[in-house]
Amino acid sequence: MLKKFEFEYQELDAKDALGNEDLELLNAAYKAVETAFAPYSKFKVGAAARLSNGQIILGSNQESASYPVGICAERTLLNSIGSQFPNETIQAMAISYMPNCVASDHPLSPCGMCRQSLLDYELRYKGPIRLILAGQTGKIMVIASASQILPFGFTGAILGK
Ligand code: THU
Repeated sequence: MLKKFEFEYQELDAKDALGNEDLELLNAAYKAVETAFAPYSKFKVGAAARLSNGQIILGSNQESASYPVGICAERTLLNSIGSQFPNETIQAMAISYMPNCVASDHPLSPCGMCRQSLLDYELRYKGPIRLILAGQTGKIMVIASASQILPFGFTGAILGK
């Protein structure tokens, strides 16, 4: 039997099509880009999450001289929320970037490891994390649940958890 998998997401033409809360979150992600430590790749990524208590928390990629030790913006942020705000849920995350100090004009698609981590946190907090993916200009992708970008994802269910 041939099966098909698909999902729907929103594509917005520009920032001004975002609602106030999402725009605030994206602006926070732009701020987070400034805190990236990316001397090796020169590819700065920033992420901002809105928690259930209304707080916005920032994260950015933090690289290492031993390259694989570095961590992406999304997982910096998720792990800091998991350790500092274990009782809040994550409602939405905006992610943006600046490649080699040049403005970005299309969305960044999170790497596979971050998709896994996003899925883990959705299951842990039992709620969808809306993703707002944007360059500094250009079209914006809004995805209702991070799990949608990791189809057939590995979960603790198979470990009996
Ligand atoms: N990076 C992120 O922070 N998030 C992603 O989703 C993709 C890649 C970082 C890792 C590394 O510091 C730099 O971008 C280049 O890969």
